[in-house]
Amino acid sequence: MRLAQVLFSQGFGTRRECDNLILAGEVRLHGEVVDDPAHEVDPHGLVFNVEGKDWPFHEKAYVLMHKPAGHECSHRPSAWPSIYTLLPSPLRLRDVQAVGRLDQDTTGLLILTDDGALIHRLTSPKKHVPKVYEVGTAQPVTEGQVAQLLAGVVLHDDPKPVSAAACEIVGERQLRLTLTQGKYHQVKRMVAAAGNEVLSLHRSRFGALVLPDDLAPGQWRWLAGPQDILGSGGAAPAR
Ligand code: URA
Repeated sequence: MRLAQVLFSQGFGTRRECDNLILAGEVRLHGEVVDDPAHEVDPHGLVFNVEGKDWPFHEKAYVLMHKPAGHECSHRPSAWPSIYTLLPSPLRLRDVQAVGRLDQDTTGLLILTDDGALIHRLTSPKKHVPKVYEVGTAQPVTEGQVAQLLAGVVLHDDPKPVSAAACEIVGERQLRLTLTQGKYHQVKRMVAAAGNEVLSLHRSRFGALVLPDDLAPGQWRWLAGPQDILGSGGAAPAR
């Protein structure tokens, strides 16, 4: 693959901008400036350096972000900054998309990718990919509320009850809820339908992927690929 094509595929601008970065001596391979846009490289496992920063080549981008509060999962946010502002410009130019949305005030695990097939797979209600939420509630949680969430509650936009795949009390006002669907404000609406109110919401897990303790709010990191999310068998575990 031509070096200019590598840069272009990884989101470093138009073809002309990528050529110009290389011609300007801003691109290094193994510490050496390469100023020929037609220089041939094997992209697999390649780490290239642009303007002093190392970039691993990723044919598709799979990114894990710790979403902070006060950010919208939208390219055109209405009131709060967009989560996309937390990514470097090559990832924004590659047009990575959040896999489902978290509310402005929800924190935790967010996956972003430019792999459309994976987005479809992870958001399809038929695939039952589990998402785990840590829920802080206004009122003490009761066994009755847990039973309702497991049995199914009716939300105003759908007569069919929606149920949690798992639900446990983890504190006086703290629930751990596992959902396999992703309806609008689903956790908040389910908890309200069960007679309580969500005061804080944090997603700790998505499929096989657990939010690492050492990833601070607002930070992101590369994932190796879909297997990090789907697990080794390609299918997400039951919960
Ligand atoms: N359910 C909600 O209510 N909000 C979120 O952000 C995610 C799930």
